[in-house]
Amino acid sequence: MKAAVSRAQTKGSTRASRAVKKTVGRYNADPDMLIQILLDLQTTLGWLSPGVLADVSEQLGVPVSRVYHIASFYKAFSLVPRGRHIIKVCMGTACQVRGAPQLVNVIASMLNMKPGETSEDRRFTLETVNCLGCCAMGPVIAVDGVYHSKPTTEDLRSIFKGAR
Ligand code: FES
Repeated sequence: MKAAVSRAQTKGSTRASRAVKKTVGRYNADPDMLIQILLDLQTTLGWLSPGVLADVSEQLGVPVSRVYHIASFYKAFSLVPRGRHIIKVCMGTACQVRGAPQLVNVIASMLNMKPGETSEDRRFTLETVNCLGCCAMGPVIAVDGVYHSKPTTEDLRSIFKGAR
């Protein structure tokens, strides 16, 4: 983690602080509900900032090291900001043999970003996953949970254009 963390990050933004308070309250500040609380906050805020983790630690009375451990252990949590739209490109075997590597390269080039990155305007996050569970449709991508089978470059342009 960078040494220079802004005050907003260390203390949590107002919106994030409100979300933490509300979420922790919903579970009666029960430390046993730590994972569920973090899941809810991930859904609400899109990522878990250092400030959010500190607020959760304080409000649950759980050491911040434990909160960090949980938040960094599970893939469901993101400790960096994510885009408003999540693009998942399947890189599972069935999709690989049907052109997933070329597809991810086309997408990365269109959006000028690499897998694992979030665009500067926080519009998109590009991720690769191991299987989206619909191997016969491959290569397949999911944008905000909507699956697209064998998308052409034209399809991709249209999908990304529609995602504001
Ligand atoms: S390998 Fe791509 S959906 Fe299963």
